[in-house]
Amino acid sequence: MSRSNQPRAGQAIASAYASWSYAEEFFPQPEVSLQARANSHRLGLTPVSPGVAQTLTLLARLIQAKAVVEIGTGAGVASLALLAGMDPGGVLTSLDSEADHHQIARAAAAQAGFPPRRHRFITGRALEVLRQLMDQAYDLVLIDAEPLEYPEYVEEALRLLRPGGLLAIHHALLDGAVAEETNLDDEPLIVRETLEAVRELEQLTSALLPVGDGLMVSIKR
Ligand SMILES: C[S@@+](CC[C@H](N)C(=O)[O-])C[C@H]1O[C@@H](n2cnc3c(N)ncnc32)[C@H](O)[C@@H]1O
Repeated sequence: MSRSNQPRAGQAIASAYASWSYAEEFFPQPEVSLQARANSHRLGLTPVSPGVAQTLTLLARLIQAKAVVEIGTGAGVASLALLAGMDPGGVLTSLDSEADHHQIARAAAAQAGFPPRRHRFITGRALEVLRQLMDQAYDLVLIDAEPLEYPEYVEEALRLLRPGGLLAIHHALLDGAVAEETNLDDEPLIVRETLEAVRELEQLTSALLPVGDGLMVSIKR
């Protein structure tokens, strides 16, 4: 790029960032979600952004989801968003390896007014727990745990989802690292390969949404 183009490129980046921030902040977040977000940061976790949370609520509402699996509960920011969009009789199954994360997420769900029958928090290694869940019994699966295990999570999610069910893969952009094709570190490499594999799957129709840290959404035919 010539020097004379640099200010224009800088302006384009600033304006893209302003638009992105505007979209992220457009919907006010409920107080209980703000609290869950603060808990996440205190635990050193990265929750879904407000824009991703709103998208998850929309997706769950769109398909009137009754049975949802979340892989990676954290402090419950996405759990609250999913529960808010799901059918009022629906059940969220949320997995995490850390019992203390579940304790915090369970308290957040109670504070938000979701009774215990609406959620089950299962503590354990995601891949071990996922293998115990039933084939084609779920409307939506959110992947948001260990990026190095994304290929296995996708494989399990495809087994769990009913036809017409939705797969959502969070951290699809990994803070810009996925888009940097020369970055061959393990996490971006595996996430990039996962996105490419999902894009090519005949049984899925997908879109890569540049919301928050990236959300790849697919519908199973
Ligand atoms: C980014 S946080 C999830 C954030 C959450 N979805 C939210 O929006 O608030 C990732 C979570 O995955 C959990 N985790 C990481 N590796 C895991 C594994 N192999 N099995 C189960 N949970 C795992 C971590 O303990 C952490 O709570």
